[in-house]
Amino acid sequence: MPLRTRFMIYVTALLGGLVVLVLFLIEHREVRAIFEEHKNRGILTAEYIAQLNYDSVIFFDNEPVEEDINKRIDNNLIYVIFYDRENKPFAANDFIKGYYDIYADSNLDPEVEKGDYFLELKNIATEKKTGRYLRVMEIEVPIYVEGSSTKWGSIKIGLSLEEMQAEERKTRLMLILIGCSGLLIGVGGAALMARRITKPLDKLVDGTVKISKGDFSQAIDIDTQDEIGELAQSFNEMSQQLQLTRKRMEAANRRLIQAEKLASIGRISASIAHEIRNPLTSVKLNIQKVMESEDLDDIDKEHLDISQEGIGHIENFIKELLNFTRVSELQLNFFSVEQIVDESIKMIRNTLKLKDVELAKEVQERLPQVLVDGDKIRQVLLNILHNACEAVDKGGKITIALSLLKGRRGQKVRIRISDNGPGIPKKNKENIFEPFYTTKSTGIGLGLANARKIIVQHKGSIHDVENEGSGACFDILIPCEEEK
Ligand SMILES: Nc1ncnc2c1ncn2[C@@H]1O[C@H](COP(=O)(O)OP(=O)(O)OP(=O)(O)O)[C@@H](O)[C@H]1O
Ligand SMILES: [Mg+2]
Repeated sequence: MPLRTRFMIYVTALLGGLVVLVLFLIEHREVRAIFEEHKNRGILTAEYIAQLNYDSVIFFDNEPVEEDINKRIDNNLIYVIFYDRENKPFAANDFIKGYYDIYADSNLDPEVEKGDYFLELKNIATEKKTGRYLRVMEIEVPIYVEGSSTKWGSIKIGLSLEEMQAEERKTRLMLILIGCSGLLIGVGGAALMARRITKPLDKLVDGTVKISKGDFSQAIDIDTQDEIGELAQSFNEMSQQLQLTRKRMEAANRRLIQAEKLASIGRISASIAHEIRNPLTSVKLNIQKVMESEDLDDIDKEHLDISQEGIGHIENFIKELLNFTRVSELQLNFFSVEQIVDESIKMIRNTLKLKDVELAKEVQERLPQVLVDGDKIRQVLLNILHNACEAVDKGGKITIALSLLKGRRGQKVRIRISDNGPGIPKKNKENIFEPFYTTKSTGIGLGLANARKIIVQHKGSIHDVENEGSGACFDILIPCEEEK
């Protein structure tokens, strides 16, 4: 059964019990109060009628007394009977004379004292055949001779209880209404409270279910300052931690796969290079020898030139491949990054000139020197500059910007190389650093893979970033010496 339903059942049962108990106590008191009020009113009425008829009573003149009380009888006052000192009926209204058991005898004790009274609740059968009866409160009080303690007799009256019962019913109805409204308000409040308590719990349950299904991206949106709020906060921290751990694991997995891939590429390349290199060298030497012969006509020479060019391509491929797969020790030395950049620019100057490409350099002042393998970093820059040069149109522009980044983990020199070529399409971005990934007809696809391998060897990073204009933009971050 859901928590909310259980909570509602408990609260409703508790509230119901409480309301019934409180109402029972109040009803008991109210009914008692109504009874007391009617009793006192009855005693006063009896004394009042006795007082009014005192003169006639004292002189034993029952006629005016009976005339007076017959007049007073109404729906409320059912009967009035006067008894003399011997407790014999002296005067009574006509109706009650037919009820001998009520009329005949006084109920007062002969030893009665001032202030005493007799009270009894009884039923008077009004229609004997149908069994209808009237409920009556009978009150009898003594009558004393004025100025003395001598008892003259007594007066007995019967008051209808209908009015009192109606009042009791009204009081009960009101109490039931108050109780029901209280119960309704209480249950409504409990429902609201149950919602307030269980809604965050529902969110927590939802979150847990999602986590159990492997979705760690769910943050629970509860900001209450209570235990549930604390629980949600810890829950969110836990899912963040899980998400982080999963990302790390995925990255480690990727690195492992990459390392395995590179290792197998390395093994294959080494054996390919070994198998191809020797026969290729002899083919190359033989072609050279044939070319030295004077009997060759121009067409044969042309064919041999093409063959030599092809062999040059294969040699270049093998060189690049071995370069990529070979893990050589870094020859570390302190270098100014600007100096390495300048040397790289010098090496690519002719290519830039041929395509009329403008190269701009922006250098932040006082860049620290970095501990790197100069040749390898130059290789990285050349690979990226070659790509940029190949990407831009004639008359294009390449910019190299050097700056210092200060972060929590120390300082890093950033080399940003951007061009105004067509840029890298989004769908290609995740592949450009993969070995043998190329979109060029004559490309090998090892330039960026090699660059990343070298930068990672330097404990740095390389990635493509959004270019402010069009074109591609690469950031190379090299940690400064203190960090290593
Ligand atoms: N500046 C650039 N502008 C546009 N695309 C680029 C740029 N630099 C790299 N790329 C994309 O990244 C791919 C991979 O580049 P990478 O240098 O690794 O290989 P490549 O240039 O194709 O071949 P090579 O091994 O001869 O360098 C390229 O084929 C190209 O699609
Ligand atoms: Mg390239």
